[in-house]
Amino acid sequence: MERFPWKKCSLQLRRFSVKDGKAMAVTIKSAREIEYMREAGRLLAEVHEELGAFIRPGISTLDIDMLGEKLIRSRGCVPNFLNYNGYPASICVSVNDEVVHGIPNAERILQEGDIVSLDAGLIYKGYHSDAARTHAVGEISEEAKKLIQVTRQSFFEGIKAAREGNHLHDISAAIDDYVSTFGYGIVRDLVGHGIGTQLHEDAQIPNFRQKRTGVRLQAGMTLAVEPMINAGGWQVDFMDDGWTVVTRDHSLSAHYENTILITDGEPEILTVL
Ligand code: MF3
Ligand code: CO
Repeated sequence: MERFPWKKCSLQLRRFSVKDGKAMAVTIKSAREIEYMREAGRLLAEVHEELGAFIRPGISTLDIDMLGEKLIRSRGCVPNFLNYNGYPASICVSVNDEVVHGIPNAERILQEGDIVSLDAGLIYKGYHSDAARTHAVGEISEEAKKLIQVTRQSFFEGIKAAREGNHLHDISAAIDDYVSTFGYGIVRDLVGHGIGTQLHEDAQIPNFRQKRTGVRLQAGMTLAVEPMINAGGWQVDFMDDGWTVVTRDHSLSAHYENTILITDGEPEILTVL
């Protein structure tokens, strides 16, 4: 992986250090690379559609992982999460107060009223895509519906700022401004990232307002923007399994992520159909 001081935390990919203000190099993709990124994104969107349709009470989180891996491989792609820093599955399945990186488990059965976040990624011809969605399991509370909806919308608010000539942290500020009006907690320990021939490339993309501007956005950058939003406080804990991140106050958490392309106009969302 890359050269971040905190990467030695084996568990977490992107523990964000606010002290790290160094400008980071973000790769600019060629037209040919963008075509591969588009296809990687489109195929992942198909996988997410099928996984979303599969969600119902009574299935295990391992059932979701097994289906996800099959859907990825049947498209001639490789699951990029599998064995990433030792992650033992293809899909991250995080239920209720689990924020991200929940490990699929045959004993963990989804119940009516749960919310479940699915984070998935794949490699197509050497190029990575990454996307996450939070789903309702059967009927859920109004409070849970609102959290899912606001989290999704915060991504769209954020990417309104994802335009050539703006700065990276304009995205962060736009997400923060929107989410803060609801009084939700924005997870600070984990952030979005550049993506391309690596799952995690420079730069980091925090979902909360920054003092520094971050790098200037340029057409050809591909970024994974991924707000993780808690119904309660922003604080999280890292579980002893080495992966699962949970809200400290055990409030519900939702996640929404797409891989996007910076263009000379509107950003293009790659992980949609
Ligand atoms: N989408 C996740 C992220 O960008 C990737 C999880 S990698 C895994 O942080 F190793 F946890 F699977
Ligand atoms: Co990601």
